[in-house]
Amino acid sequence: MTSTNDIRRSFLDYFEGQGHARVPSAPLVPHNDPTLMFVNAGMVPFKNVFTGLEKRDYSTATSSQKCVRAGGKHNDLDNVGYTARHHTFFEMLGNFSFGDYFKEQAITHAWTLLTKEWGIPADKLTATVYHTDDQAFELWKKIAGLPESRIIRIPTKDNFWAMGSDGPCGPCSEIFYDHGDHIFGGPPGSPDEDGDRFVEIWNLVFMQFVQENDEIIGDLPRPSIDTGMGLERLAAVLQGVHDNYDTDTFKALIAESGELTKTTTTGDNQASHRVIADHLRSSGFLVADGVLPANEG
Ligand code: ALA
Repeated sequence: MTSTNDIRRSFLDYFEGQGHARVPSAPLVPHNDPTLMFVNAGMVPFKNVFTGLEKRDYSTATSSQKCVRAGGKHNDLDNVGYTARHHTFFEMLGNFSFGDYFKEQAITHAWTLLTKEWGIPADKLTATVYHTDDQAFELWKKIAGLPESRIIRIPTKDNFWAMGSDGPCGPCSEIFYDHGDHIFGGPPGSPDEDGDRFVEIWNLVFMQFVQENDEIIGDLPRPSIDTGMGLERLAAVLQGVHDNYDTDTFKALIAESGELTKTTTTGDNQASHRVIADHLRSSGFLVADGVLPANEG
């Protein structure tokens, strides 16, 4: 079995090998960003690099960023414990281009890593594109050889990504893994899309615009790339399980939770132990980054 730690390393190694600067995770509390309570995506520490306010000595980067989604625009709290794939705390693997490469290279990297480096069968993968993004549609055909039936045009916000009401944004293309017909769920855009069968593993955002108060107010200095892959979802795929809570990191926490509380971790107790494991990770990493619980605000 490939451990979650090995998987994280393999992602970062791949992109470093492709000339990306390897950047450590930023703390969960964003600095200089009053619009956001906690970092909720890998691109947040790079927000000002995308908009051109800040310069770094690299034009491409890769990171595994600690994220919390427990409120605000991207909030997964209510799903935790009840789906195979949601967490309040997770790590987002990402590769970023700040005005360097754009759609074609981003899709090529993603496809190469998934199918060639990691050997994920191409027929398990489906891509979505924003409904008007003909260019991304054609690139998926050309680079990945995906049949048109597995490149799905989505006309909603699901395929237009924004970090919050303010900041960089753009159309996106999501890659889904099909865990098989023994799991309930349908492909993206279908009535059963919220089931756990087709799981979004990687989101490629074609960053092009800047928004303020949810309105696009202009273009980024140069088209850029922001991608995000859920490390825990990828671990499930590469460890051959369909459920994030059955991967190495979560199994250990859930076993301990069962032992300490002297309860079984299956059946009626399953969701509770999953919530405990999830929330322990959130609280642990938040406290480590200086966030303490209080009864105000
Ligand atoms: N920033 C994008 C996301 O969070 C990649 O999905």
